[in-house]
Amino acid sequence: MDLIISLIVLLTFGRGISGATFALLNKCDYTVWPGILANAGSSKLDSTGFELGSGGSRTLQAPPNWSGRFWGRTGCTFDPNTGQGSCTTGDCGSNQVECNGGGQKPPATLAEFTVGSGTQDFYDVSLVDGYNLPLIIDPSGGSSNCLSVGCVTDLNRQCPNELRFGNGSACNSACGALGSDEYCCRGAYGSPNTCKPSSYSEMFKAACPRAYSYAYDDATSTFTCTSADYTITFCPSSTSQKAATNTPPTTTTSTTNSSGTESGEVPMETNSSWLPIFSTGDSSKTLSSCTLLILTLTSFLFFFLLNS
Ligand SMILES: *[C@@H]1O[C@H](CO)[C@@H](O)[C@H](O)[C@H]1NC(C)=O
Ligand SMILES: *[C@@H]1O[C@H](CO)[C@@H](O)[C@H](O)[C@H]1NC(C)=O
Ligand SMILES: *[C@@H]1O[C@H](CO)[C@@H](O)[C@H](O)[C@H]1NC(C)=O
Ligand SMILES: *[C@@H]1O[C@H](CO)[C@@H](O)[C@H](O)[C@H]1NC(C)=O
Repeated sequence: MDLIISLIVLLTFGRGISGATFALLNKCDYTVWPGILANAGSSKLDSTGFELGSGGSRTLQAPPNWSGRFWGRTGCTFDPNTGQGSCTTGDCGSNQVECNGGGQKPPATLAEFTVGSGTQDFYDVSLVDGYNLPLIIDPSGGSSNCLSVGCVTDLNRQCPNELRFGNGSACNSACGALGSDEYCCRGAYGSPNTCKPSSYSEMFKAACPRAYSYAYDDATSTFTCTSADYTITFCPSSTSQKAATNTPPTTTTSTTNSSGTESGEVPMETNSSWLPIFSTGDSSKTLSSCTLLILTLTSFLFFFLLNS
């Protein structure tokens, strides 16, 4: 009986602080194999990769302070007997359906998150690493300026020849295809002041106004919402009229700040990497030490009651 009470206490405390629920939804008319990578210091979610048939969905729970990314792998074949295989786009190099800590091979459209802890979540869709399929993020149940963001457009159809990946199943970023410091925001171009949008990134930005089109595209690409849950939809176009009309009509967002964020809210810690890095609390450590404390207290209580 006491054990049960202890367990209830533990569960109640453990769930007291919520993180975010992620629902992955596949509206593509083909199978997508989502990949999930937790950033350093964040625990892995229930799955790091799985198969999601056309029309399918799956939800995953992330703890407070979790940060990481989601993307869709396409054209995967996994041997039904050994489970081994790979994907045409977004492959994570694990040779399995689970990515097990592997990140996406570019080009791939990314949905990136830093979950708060009763505080703001940060989220964005990034094409800095290229594009492989349309993807939007829809927040729900959150407070403040919670916009749907991402890329409804099929950029594979508009991809310039020099950026085309494979048979047209994905579109490289200019950095990925051409590799110069200027496109990659490296070397002399390694700061927001020197790395400017290119004609390629502007093409991405015009197609997907609320997505990162190059490394220093923060001002119109990072969004915040407090205590929300998120739906990540692959190929949203069929029912995404709302999101589509929400997106700013302008095609010159690189020089304007017409989009959803207030400039004061935009974290500017982006460094050499294509991945915007936000403050990353060590959530797993904090969580587990909290759990340990509760466990210790409840076992003391249990011990005490047993002996009395
Ligand atoms: C590209 O090739 C893959 C197999 O390699 C195939 O599944 C896919 O349908 C092709 N895509 C196009 C647009 O031809
Ligand atoms: C990025 O960080 C590295 C070290 O972590 C530093 O050497 C480099 O100057 C930074 N680049 C920018 C653009 O801040
Ligand atoms: C855009 O940003 C500039 C400088 O950051 C600011 O002065 C201006 O008021 C902003 N415009 C809008 C529409 O937010
Ligand atoms: C989340 O991070 C913040 C800031 O680092 C910290 O104060 C808070 O205790 C963390 N919450 C959890 C549940 O780990």
